[in-house]
Amino acid sequence: MIKKGIILAGGLGTRMSPVTKAVNKQLLPIYDKPLIYYPLSVLMLAGIRDILIIVNKGQLNQFKKVLPNGNNLGIKISFAEQNYPKGLPDAFNIGKSFIGNDNVALILGDNFFYGQSLTEQLKKCVKLKSGATVILHPVNNPSSYGVACINKKNKIIKIIEKPKKNISNLAITGLYFFDNKVVNYFETLKPSKRNELEIVDLLNIYKRNKSLSCKFLGRGGAWLDAGSIKDFYETSAFVAALENRQGLKIACLEEIAFNNKWIKKKEVLNAVKFYGKCDYSRYLLNFIKKNNS
Ligand code: G1P
Repeated sequence: MIKKGIILAGGLGTRMSPVTKAVNKQLLPIYDKPLIYYPLSVLMLAGIRDILIIVNKGQLNQFKKVLPNGNNLGIKISFAEQNYPKGLPDAFNIGKSFIGNDNVALILGDNFFYGQSLTEQLKKCVKLKSGATVILHPVNNPSSYGVACINKKNKIIKIIEKPKKNISNLAITGLYFFDNKVVNYFETLKPSKRNELEIVDLLNIYKRNKSLSCKFLGRGGAWLDAGSIKDFYETSAFVAALENRQGLKIACLEEIAFNNKWIKKKEVLNAVKFYGKCDYSRYLLNFIKKNNS
């Protein structure tokens, strides 16, 4: 069972300069809430309550202003700083003492997941006892991602980071579930040609050991990653369209915590005070009215 999760929210956000010059990308809005709410909501939907957020050096206070420590959500949030982005697997080095002897989930701070069967899939993924699990989703531009080829039995037979040739349209999304061996495997990694530690190198170790499995969000699921201004705009438009049509918020952390029975009405009302007069607070008040307990 996986009870711990890491959100990698470092990175320089160079592709989004100048808007990322003063503020970390993960704190910029996807429609009506900071980007970091979305990956955090995914871990919470998976039932994970012990969460480490890795941020850039010097940006800790920015994050703490909106996510102080998790008490208000019935979870534990700790922070760690990264001096310089060295590649995704560095999360297992920075997070070594947080992970301890446990299995761990890793989600990239700019990844957005949505879908009918998302929670159900997440609950299956956190049952992992040994090995590693990735989530695959079709994309139009596989050369921008880590890509997996699978056989008829849905077994991963090949993994390549940003392939030049179109070998598969199945991207490896930025949500990974690992057993504790990941901490040792990390030690064996060498920087790639782009001088970064690569997540696919870690995944390939699991593949060689025949302990890599995959799951799918399915056609009705959405996976977006907000790495550029255009992505921010498009992901925001997606959230706005769904939220305004249905009157239901995506990644409303207090709603998820309440539904998971991690917090009560009192904490939701505290959140309303914390956020002040805004649409998000009005939504929470309405939610509490409907679910009076
Ligand atoms: C990273 C990973 C890649 C993965 C992607 C998901 O790419 O290296 O394997 O498919 O995240 O968002 P990056 O965003 O660093 O280019």
